[in-house]
Amino acid sequence: MKKEKEILALNAFEHGDLSTMDATLREAVQRRLRSFGSASVLFYQEPLRMERAEGVWMFDAEGRRYLDLYNNVPSVGHSHPRVVEAIRRQVGLLNTHTRYLNDVVDTYAEHLLATFPTAINHLVLTCTGSEANDLALRIAKTVTGHAGFIVTETAYHGNTAAVTDVSPSSRPGQPLPPHVRAVPAPETFRSSADDVGRRFAASVREAITDLEQSGIGFAGLLVDTIFSSDGVFADPPGFLAPAVKLVHERRGLFIADEVQPGFGRTGAALWGFARHDVVPDIVTMGKPMGNGFPMGGVVTRAALLDRFAAEVKYFNTFGGNPVAAAAGFAVLDVIADEGLIANAQTVGGYLMDGLREIGNRHIQIGDVRGAGLFKPASSPRHSRGRGRPLRQHAENSSSVVLHERPCRYVYHRLRRGAARDWPA
Ligand SMILES: Cc1ncc(COP(=O)(O)O)c(C=O)c1O
Repeated sequence: MKKEKEILALNAFEHGDLSTMDATLREAVQRRLRSFGSASVLFYQEPLRMERAEGVWMFDAEGRRYLDLYNNVPSVGHSHPRVVEAIRRQVGLLNTHTRYLNDVVDTYAEHLLATFPTAINHLVLTCTGSEANDLALRIAKTVTGHAGFIVTETAYHGNTAAVTDVSPSSRPGQPLPPHVRAVPAPETFRSSADDVGRRFAASVREAITDLEQSGIGFAGLLVDTIFSSDGVFADPPGFLAPAVKLVHERRGLFIADEVQPGFGRTGAALWGFARHDVVPDIVTMGKPMGNGFPMGGVVTRAALLDRFAAEVKYFNTFGGNPVAAAAGFAVLDVIADEGLIANAQTVGGYLMDGLREIGNRHIQIGDVRGAGLFKPASSPRHSRGRGRPLRQHAENSSSVVLHERPCRYVYHRLRRGAARDWPA
């Protein structure tokens, strides 16, 4: 398996010497550590003290403004007035679980389901993406009668025990559990983009055969459809189709984790799987669903949910509560009314051009790729274009990349004030 940094270690504050910090920051960090100890995960060696946010901007305790390139939760902008008002209004009216009929919850469910292919038409609401993936695994196991799952080598799907088992990036240096197989991500910087679909399907075929021969059996392929923790692999659209066809031929389920690419971020459609022209058996959602209000969900075929529900009684106290539904409904409305899918495409294009410009003039960027506002840039060390200037590489490539390190670079630029001059 590829050796990668554990996902939470990326850009993380490393506990240790605090002596270089100013006294106020040092006290704030020490205070955090006194309560949360080593479970505390902070960004950056000089952690930021954020106080408020609005639209694309975040403001720290000194009133400094930062362009938020990192946070994928407030998909329609921090503190969007329509989402804020929807939450405020509903929390003053009724907030309870889903065991009562309630117009807001049922209207939201209808609107959300209308965004999916007609074959996947039933919904379970949860509070987080981890819960959604946990439930997806349970449905797949129950329906197929098998326990084996295939994921990518540095996948991250959440934090429950079962989901951590299928998240190799959360288990650095540990062997995979016996029921999990990891396949290489469908990367296109070391190998040709032309046959990425065929290569990915070939790895999946090998893993399915291995699970079958081991007696564990094959339950499903679970992927984040933009492969965010693997480094972001978006192109060419459609490359997932051969693997999904194979999964169905081998009687497994295809689970699309839309926690990262969902809700329009790829600039092509509301869902990442749509770029690949495939219909998943199960879709999981989270992060941007409530623009910060904790929400997650599973959408699946009626027959699969019926099968699961016949064996297991699943209830989630807070999943789909009316306040969450009101927030989720406002998010869907804002995405449609403000044309945010097209906006992700347009602004993603500016970002790509800007990264090429930076790459040509200032720092070594090996590759810039992605879709819509999902734009990672990787260092030359991690790219096919190793050592080549970005311009040269871009000319030979149909896609461009932004990874964690350039984000860090941008962050440092922002700290030096570059972003403060940008128009709001
Ligand atoms: C692809 C993916 N799936 C699932 C999750 C888990 O979501 P949550 O943290 O809301 O449980 C994450 C979180 O980062 C994620 O990136």
